[in-house]
Amino acid sequence: MPKERLNVPGFRAAKRAGTRIKMVTCYDYTGAVLADRSPVDAVLVGDSLGMVMMGYSGTTGVSMEEMLHHLRAVVRGAPNTMVVADMPFGSYNVSPEQAVANANELMRAGADCVKLEGGIPFYDTVRTLVRAGIPVMGHVGLTPQTAAALGGFKVQGRDAEAARQIIDDAMSLQQAGAFSVVLEMVPAPLAHHITEHLTISTIGIGAGNGCDGQVLVWHDMFGLYDRLAPRFVKRFAEAGQVISEGLAAYCTEVDNGAFPGPEHSFKMKQEELLLATAEPAIRS
Ligand code: KIV
Repeated sequence: MPKERLNVPGFRAAKRAGTRIKMVTCYDYTGAVLADRSPVDAVLVGDSLGMVMMGYSGTTGVSMEEMLHHLRAVVRGAPNTMVVADMPFGSYNVSPEQAVANANELMRAGADCVKLEGGIPFYDTVRTLVRAGIPVMGHVGLTPQTAAALGGFKVQGRDAEAARQIIDDAMSLQQAGAFSVVLEMVPAPLAHHITEHLTISTIGIGAGNGCDGQVLVWHDMFGLYDRLAPRFVKRFAEAGQVISEGLAAYCTEVDNGAFPGPEHSFKMKQEELLLATAEPAIRS
């Protein structure tokens, strides 16, 4: 039986019921099918795809076209799973109208909602998106699109002033109408406090287990990306190692002629081959 597809009201119901939301990033059709067949509630087509799928050094270079390309593949593979689409850098920071135009494109491509980074400075943008009928997930704490300004990929909100700022940012997103907020790389007690004081759901990544849900980057959790190894990531499978072993075995068998064997080859009748090779084929 297919699982029940999570939606925006479902986030509220899950918070009321104390049911944890399970989200993973996803960037292609094959991954989406796997996530769709699992108990995962939501897939995030994150702009982290710039790093793990395209090899960029960060997320700021990701374009709307790239997001749409990956989003469409994920939508095709995940009919029973909520699809969250990241708004890439530069697609919402000019004006609320620019944000609506780009969010409309993501929604038309099949997203159920959009996610954007930032708090208080994006109050009007979030409010305008929500009034335009586009559900918004916020993202505060470490915001990778502006990581350079935050001093790199570092824990945010360790001192009282920085923690207060994150609380205010999260509160502002709720007031603007966001239905949930990602808390990235913030101390667990701070994330727990925010979760207790918001009526909308918090989704943690490097934010401890006191959030309403969790999200992890696919390539991190399955050992497929080793340029960054954040301490908060748990590797739930060593897919990278399995693939490396498979590649080595393939190369050995091609080298020694063991692959392809008869079971991977196609037969033909001997007389057909004789007929085909009896005279040189002349083509004019
Ligand atoms: O792009 C992404 O993968 C994200 C997660 C880190 C939440 O925004």
